[in-house]
Amino acid sequence: MKQDIKRIVGLTVLVVLVIAAFVMGVRVAKLVDLTYVEMNTTPTPEPPVRNVMQVTIDPSAPTPQPVLRSGSQGEEVWQLQTRLRELGYYNSSIDGQFGPGTKNAVIAFQRQHGLDADGIVGEGTKAVLYSDQAQLKATPAPTREPVSPAMPWTRTDGLPLLVNRENFMPEGYQPAELVNMADYCSSNIVKIKYSDTQAERMAVDALIAMLKVAHTQGITVWQVSAAYRSESYQQQLFDQQVDEYMDKNGLSYNDAVSATRLTVMEPGSSEHHTGLAFDITVPGVAFKGTEQAEWLADNCWDYGFIIRYASDKEDITGILAEPWHIRYVGTEHSIPMRDENLCLEEYIAKYGSY
Ligand code: DAL
Ligand code: ZN
Repeated sequence: MKQDIKRIVGLTVLVVLVIAAFVMGVRVAKLVDLTYVEMNTTPTPEPPVRNVMQVTIDPSAPTPQPVLRSGSQGEEVWQLQTRLRELGYYNSSIDGQFGPGTKNAVIAFQRQHGLDADGIVGEGTKAVLYSDQAQLKATPAPTREPVSPAMPWTRTDGLPLLVNRENFMPEGYQPAELVNMADYCSSNIVKIKYSDTQAERMAVDALIAMLKVAHTQGITVWQVSAAYRSESYQQQLFDQQVDEYMDKNGLSYNDAVSATRLTVMEPGSSEHHTGLAFDITVPGVAFKGTEQAEWLADNCWDYGFIIRYASDKEDITGILAEPWHIRYVGTEHSIPMRDENLCLEEYIAKYGSY
């Protein structure tokens, strides 16, 4: 009997163990199965990562930068033109073609940022172009260096060249870099009345920068009637005016010369010889009293220009007011001259050291 009981208990334990083993086995199988299912489920796709390449970077190796120059084309040029336009240097179409317009814009940018002005966009130019240091196109200030061929409009004391009846042009003076304005300036910005008009490049750059801003403010019709003049051409203008006073007004020669001196300088004493002066006009109308004249009088100072012959300074300049004649001196001087209401003669007298 006892043995029967032991057998029954033993069998029961065995059955329990078998059942337990079965249940555990199913669970284990289920776990294995679950793992398998998870492993075979297609994972949610990650956002695509572009150009993930396993490369070994040599920290001493320079990062390769594509150089852009005349003839380059494509996406990089498109980006370059967009950036130059954003900064005010480029006004033509954004077409991804590196032509003369793009090159001029790059040169203007390089000049303003003290870079080698070669019109080629290498690593250095690109770094400045896309950095916070990139400035909107504006007037470069002249240096305080002694007169040099590169900066001919500064005196040795760093002040702007004074040209008038008492201060004739320095002997042998040559503008540093005359450009043909009709070729250099976009006709959308300014009309150049005579196709052979030339002026100093830096002054023309400042003029373009200024007139672009005027356009954004709705003042759009501008013309340059005169800029650089040779001494012989100035002589011709002077003589013509004398003749006209004699012929039309019946003045004697001496009276005609005196009258002419109020509006036309004699050769050697005209600012137009510097290549830094412009006569700004509006085609077909008298300039005085136009919205352009008002805008110029209010704003030219911020771009390095002065209204050289103002009505309240006639006694000092000896020239009747000319609201159209602007002279480039650089913002370093034009702004204090405006703020202190000084004409060039007064400014030199106050701050000049000789
Ligand atoms: N009209 C200006 C004064 C000049 O002849 O230079
Ligand atoms: Zn003039």
